[in-house]
Order: sequence, then structure tokens, then C-alpha cells
Amino acid sequence: MTESPLIADPAGLSRMKWEYERERTGFDDLLAFGTADMDYRSPEPVLRALRRVIDRGHLGYPMVTDRFYDVIHDHLLRQTGWDIDARTSVGQNVGIYASAKLIMGILTKPGDKITIMTPVHFCFRSMISQNGRTALECPLLYDGHGYKVNFTALESCLESGSRVLWFCNPHNPVGRAWNREELERIADICAAHDAYIMSDDVYSGLLFDNVRYIPIASVSRDAFLRTITMYSTSKVYNTTGLRHSYIVTENPELLKRYTEELGKMNLSYGLNIMGMEAVIAAYTECDEWLSALMREIESHHRFLSGYFRSELPGAAIVPAESMYFAWADMRRLRIPPQQLAYLISEEEHMIVENGAELGKGGAGFIRLNLATSLENIEEGARRLKAFWFRHL
Ligand SMILES: Cc1ncc(COP(=O)(O)O)c(C=O)c1O
Repeated sequence: MTESPLIADPAGLSRMKWEYERERTGFDDLLAFGTADMDYRSPEPVLRALRRVIDRGHLGYPMVTDRFYDVIHDHLLRQTGWDIDARTSVGQNVGIYASAKLIMGILTKPGDKITIMTPVHFCFRSMISQNGRTALECPLLYDGHGYKVNFTALESCLESGSRVLWFCNPHNPVGRAWNREELERIADICAAHDAYIMSDDVYSGLLFDNVRYIPIASVSRDAFLRTITMYSTSKVYNTTGLRHSYIVTENPELLKRYTEELGKMNLSYGLNIMGMEAVIAAYTECDEWLSALMREIESHHRFLSGYFRSELPGAAIVPAESMYFAWADMRRLRIPPQQLAYLISEEEHMIVENGAELGKGGAGFIRLNLATSLENIEEGARRLKAFWFRHL
């Protein structure tokens, strides 16, 4: 059995998640469960691949190699059964949201409506409005145990004139990896309304035991023509600082337009040399690291869920299938949901993401990042218990 991923030595690190937050708040005993980065070292094979680039001694514009395309092809085929022609369907960029901005520009014009399923990562809404579009919120259904897609609300959003669904699979923050039946139904609804799908699948490798990830583009021939899927090693292999991402679309017209848009920023000539090497190492040498990581995350999730059940009556950690978050239902507290994360920070010196900022259905929830040490999670759990009883 592979050892658990190691917590990175903080000496010399300047991370947004920890060092920046400590500086911002002035709390020496800060616990950071916010920013979606891991506290673990990035996988050794990725680090070795990057060292090899340095050792070659030349950091000029890299060409995109056959190996890069082949590795993406093989990875998607092996992971999901999706058999793409990578040379004619992959484009790159410097991040998921850089791609999302381009795709929004291709599929919509200012004033158009873009549908999102809430609660969802706050950048979806903020990017839509910062780019002069309108976000239509289609809240997920929560029955106290888990989340489901609200197909009726999705139909209404698309009927009201939205031609684009900005999808998230697996879904941040609620931890669902959507199943085939759900994906087919979403794809059918989009087809019936002639809507495109921009699918953010950045977390797609982070799966709990016995859970499968299925790209929505792969569920039918029609779905792949109307979908652009966004990927990166950033979240799964802890490489967010490399600022590298790629998209997959089997619609040649969409790839052509995407490449033209990249060209307008001169980003189609040579991209992140480290990013491409990281993709190759991640998809060919890191399976064991990833399995060990997910065992660790699942055990953290189990611990926190159990702690909430026994120590915080009336609160709950929502069951998850994917990613490294705990999505905590704290709606019983007698405080305005907008202030929940702020008060947790002020009183408990803990950074968490506030559900109220993630759109309809998020108020009263918080998101905790579990990609840290069990020691931190145990201490965070104790502080949340104190907070819970102070405000119940
Ligand atoms: C759903 C989702 N997509 C994309 C990103 C950002 O990815 P990147 O920094 O690799 O562009 C995040 C970051 O938290 C995220 O939660």
C-alpha cells in the first residue's frame, strides 16, 4: 500500500491559502480551510518531470508534442471510455477561467443569459456578471441527505432564452459526480433547447471509492457537438500555481473559434512548458499517489461527518462522492448566513468558504477544504463545535 501524500514543509512557501490569509487576518493560530489548494506536496513524478525541464537548460516557447496529445487521449479513454482524437479536439490555456472567458465570448454576447446550477463556485456568477452577461440560477435540489439536479428548473432557465449551461462535474461545492442518467437527461434538455454546455471538469480525478466520473460530452453524439469541457492538472495533482489548463471539444467549429480567440492574445504560440510536462507525468505516473490521496481525503470526510453527527446536533456534513471538500449544513444557527464565515474567522480564527456567496441554496452552509492534516481537521472540528454551541 502506498504511503499517504506528505504535507508540504511550509518553510519558504508563500501560499494564498495559508501565508496570505495569516498576513491578512493577523491570526498566528489561523486554520485555513478555504482556498481550493492542497497542503500536500505535489506528486513526486510531477516534480521530477519539472526538474527535468529545468535540467535541460532551455525555457523557450515549447511546441505541442505528439506525446502530450497521446497522453490526454489515453487518459480520457482509460478513465472514462471517451475516445477522442486529441490532435483535433484539444486546445490549451493558462487556467480554467481564462478558457471560460473565451468560451463565453464564443457562445454568447453581452446581455445574454448563462445558466448555472447553484450552489456553485462563486467565480461562475462573478465571471458571468463581470463579462456583461446575466447568470440564471437553477438551484440544485437538497433533501437533507444529498443533491439532485432540478430538471424542471433547468428547462425553465433554457426556455427563458439562455442558450448556454455552465456545468460543473464533479460539482463544487456539493461533491456530486453526476451519473449517466442525470448527464443524459441534462444533455437531452440542452439539445431540446439548442443550448451549448461549457463543462468545468477540473476536479474530475478526485473520486471516492467506487465512484465514476463521466464527461457529459461523452454521453451521446449530440452532446459532444454542443460541449466544451475544461480540464487542468491544477486541482487533482496540486499544480494550481503552474497556471495551465486545456479544453476538449469534438465540435471542429468550436475548436477553430477557440483557437482564434487564443490567437488574439498571442497564446496559441507556445504555452506553459511546465504545464504540459505536468500533464504528461500526472496522467502516466501518478495513479498510486492519487489513490492514496483519495483514501486520505475519504477518511478525513468520514472523520468530520462522524464528529458532526456525535458532537454538533442539528448540523451535518453532506455525503460526498468526489473532491476534497466537506459541505457542512449549519442552517440551524441563529446568525445571518451572510456573516457565517466572517464570524467563524473572527471568533475561531478559521477560514472557510461561505455558502451564502455560492448562489441560491448555499445560505447557511460552509465549505471546508479537507486536503490538510488530520490534526488540523480535528482542531477545526473542535473550534466549530465551540462556535456551534455559542450561536445555537
Ligand atoms: C470549479 C472550479 N473551477 C476552476 C477553478 C480554478 O481552476 P484554475 O485555477 O486551475 O484555473 C476552481 C478553483 O477553485 C474551481 O473551484
